Amino acid sequence: MDKTILIAPSTDPIKSVNAIIDYAESVKHDADFLHCDIMDGVFVENKTYSFRALRAINEKTLLPLDVHLMIDNPTKHINDFLNAGANILTVHYEAYKNKEQLIKDLKHIQEFGALSGLSIKPHTSVSEIIPYLYYIDVVLVMSVEPGKSGQKFIESTYEKVAQLNKIKIDYDVDFKIEVDGGVNPSISRNLKKFGADILVSGSYIYESENRLEAISSLR
Ligand code: DX5
Ligand code: ZN
Repeated sequence: MDKTILIAPSTDPIKSVNAIIDYAESVKHDADFLHCDIMDGVFVENKTYSFRALRAINEKTLLPLDVHLMIDNPTKHINDFLNAGANILTVHYEAYKNKEQLIKDLKHIQEFGALSGLSIKPHTSVSEIIPYLYYIDVVLVMSVEPGKSGQKFIESTYEKVAQLNKIKIDYDVDFKIEVDGGVNPSISRNLKKFGADILVSGSYIYESENRLEAISSLR
């Protein structure tokens, strides 16, 4: 069955806030979201930008912001990112020792009026997050180790997407399935077949000579 897939170009390969704003401008007619990769140098080795930079980006683009927090202690920072304009706010399952707090944070994001996202690293199994799916609007399946763009897609991601679609039916829950890392047009065709809803793409779109064509080749 064919369905429309949403495309979220990622800010990860881009080094300055002004360049991110220019990038958002260059993809605004074709992208569905701007995927904003927030790294703190602790949860992952690299460091990107703060909520203040996110606010500046939000002021300059009409694209909805899909904010991927690759940070330690997300509880402390979610209000800053919500207030800065996140439309989807995604936290990492692995960043929480206290899973009661995870539920509180997911509910808080929803009550604020944003969509709540939960991301899992390649080594985290889908079955671990079943108890939280009732509080989640988007599951972000990492198809590379979080931390940098330009890595190779991990093939076991397809199975995770299939499992999540089965869980939706078995547990009668609804959420979108988003995949992040190493996506190109042939992988995107497969992900579509397995039932993904949103695809993140960093280097493939950013490095393409014609970004609008690159986006349509992922749909
Ligand atoms: C990886 C980031 C991704 C990254 C994807 O840590 O979460 O969003 O930008 O980039 P590509 O598509 O190049 O793997
Ligand atoms: Zn990301």
